[in-house]
Amino acid sequence: MNWTNRPVIAATGLYTPPESISNAELVESFNEYVARYNEAHAAAIGMGDIDPLQPSSVEFIEKASGIKARHVIDKASILDPEIMCPRIAERDNDQLSIMAEIGVKAAQQALEAAGRAPADVDAVLCAASNMQRPYPAMAIEIQQALGIDGFGFDMNVACSSATFGIQTAADYVRAGNARSVLVVSPEITSGHLNWRDRDSHFIFGDVATAVLVEDAAIAPVNHWEILGTKLKTVFSNNIRNNFGFLNRAAPETASDPDKLFVQEGRKVFKEVVPMVSALILEEAERVQIDPHSLRRLWLHQANAGMNRLIAHRVLGHEADGDESPTVLDTYANTSSAGSIIAFHKHNSDLAGGDTGLICSFGAGYSVGTVFVRKTD
Ligand code: COA
Repeated sequence: MNWTNRPVIAATGLYTPPESISNAELVESFNEYVARYNEAHAAAIGMGDIDPLQPSSVEFIEKASGIKARHVIDKASILDPEIMCPRIAERDNDQLSIMAEIGVKAAQQALEAAGRAPADVDAVLCAASNMQRPYPAMAIEIQQALGIDGFGFDMNVACSSATFGIQTAADYVRAGNARSVLVVSPEITSGHLNWRDRDSHFIFGDVATAVLVEDAAIAPVNHWEILGTKLKTVFSNNIRNNFGFLNRAAPETASDPDKLFVQEGRKVFKEVVPMVSALILEEAERVQIDPHSLRRLWLHQANAGMNRLIAHRVLGHEADGDESPTVLDTYANTSSAGSIIAFHKHNSDLAGGDTGLICSFGAGYSVGTVFVRKTD
């Protein structure tokens, strides 16, 4: 084999949980929780000791975020006003873990699309915002379930995990250390979301994606060349989750909002938009692509307004849905999987030679860009 050491995206895969929650269903359950809370605390509220909780609204959610629905692993428990979190049964150690299960489904789709046998894959990276356990690595369980003889490890860069995974996989190919690498992103974000928090209860959804990065020498005829990748991180507390193994002991922490996803949404919006746009424009210059000529942007799916602004700065004009497709309406924010879902669902119609950009951004802060060109 004449290896090229040129990494390409050979194929992608997507697993979408069958259950979905509409904004109307979500708000009905949230507002029932608010009504029950206010009733139970009526005396303290009447005395002015605590503030009453405010109801959520379908109109606000759609206007502020562009989100209309989200897929989840366990709809019933999330919508039960007495529970309001997913209740996913623990499995025995000899059963496949839930994260591995959905990751495997997405990975199998990618392998099938590429016509690749698992035995020919060299490595599995499980790149996601949350791992259901510290070890053994989710990636190794996925590797075992698929029958891959190689190595695997987990990596977490929050919403940028998948693009950081793509660059890591691309670097293995560039260095010749691996020829075929699976980047799997099972994102069960419903587990870290505070479904009782009015400011953010609508944000996230569950999904799994897979990206097969390969040496151009073995990739299927139709693939996407990786023209350049660029990563950036800048520390910020504006998106944070303090859950971890060091705070497991105190029972009161179990319901502490600080141990779930928290964010300063407005600050994130203001600080991340310029950072992302600047990184994209710098990297476009380095890989000698006129950003205005990019045929499509597959942006991180967190907020429709943010994507509008970023796309405008990059393309030089207001982008339409064809230039910057959204999956936010049906999937919500699926953390690192968002830009990959957008790419997976909206790349087959592009022509040979078309260039595009997969870009993620989120907690850290973190930004990852992957410039790609469709083969002729
Ligand atoms: N229903 C109704 N009203 C709500 C509400 C809800 N669920 N949540 C908040 N509001 C109200 C607030 O009380 C506030 O009212 P006020 O102006 O009277 O005080 C108003 O809506 C505006 O709230 P704000 O939080 O400033 O909204 P926003 O327009 O900034 O939208 C986000 C909130 C979170 C959707 C938006 O900031 C965002 O998406 N930011 C980026 C987030 C991001 O990318 N995060 C990365 C995660 S990986």
